[in-house]
Amino acid sequence: MTDDGIIYLDEVDSTNSYCMRSYEDLSIGTIVVADSQTAGRGRLGRVWHSPPGCNLYASIILKPPFWRLDPALLPHIASLAVYNMVCDFGVENAWIKWPNDVYAGGRKLAGVLTESRIVNGAVQAVVTGIGINLNMPAAALAELDKPATSIAIEAGRDIARDACVKALFGYFETYCSTCQAHGFEQIYPAWREASALVGRQVSIAGGDRTVVGQVRDLQNDGSILIEEADGRRSSVRSGDLSLTLL
Ligand code: BTN
Repeated sequence: MTDDGIIYLDEVDSTNSYCMRSYEDLSIGTIVVADSQTAGRGRLGRVWHSPPGCNLYASIILKPPFWRLDPALLPHIASLAVYNMVCDFGVENAWIKWPNDVYAGGRKLAGVLTESRIVNGAVQAVVTGIGINLNMPAAALAELDKPATSIAIEAGRDIARDACVKALFGYFETYCSTCQAHGFEQIYPAWREASALVGRQVSIAGGDRTVVGQVRDLQNDGSILIEEADGRRSSVRSGDLSLTLL
């Protein structure tokens, strides 16, 4: 651990798994960064490819009390932090794909995986893991199962990982403090604006139901409001869901 609360690892199974199993030893706000992950995990049980030397794989651990910070909103807070960081680094067409991916145009740039450590029904820690394609070469990106890009490709220059970590968690910690003090409502307008989904036709699949319709709004509890073809409106909370643009 360095004195700024960041643990750097050459290789780990998953920075999220590391935080989940070491939660008792890690103080609030500790950030774990790895050069590579041997078992990087994405949402919905997917694999997060984590080769060395080219990307950012990091997790931050928070613990109760959360005051006015609803842990269920951490994926949205993290995606807003990623969005702002990638904009600062020169990505011009970034947007947040609800619930918690960041895209540049039609290609995925980053993803967020939040997990809770619960013991005897009580939340002990919440781990927010963030994977961002920094300098991954186009040939390696082309091998991924979905269209993907990197900050370097979008910004046209190589990106220093340390600077990204500093900028990213600077935003994340500021947003968490703001939400602790005032609630998510304070950053909701910026998050809604960055999401750029209002008016788009989407399909949201998860559990036993798929909702297809037009996005009417993103709401200040993190949910998305969909109007289906018959005029029925459904408010969908994030969770084990995936959204497809139609
Ligand atoms: C997704 O888009 O499905 C979420 C991807 C999250 C990947 C990050 S990389 C750091 C942290 N450790 C993991 O194993 N996963 C997250």
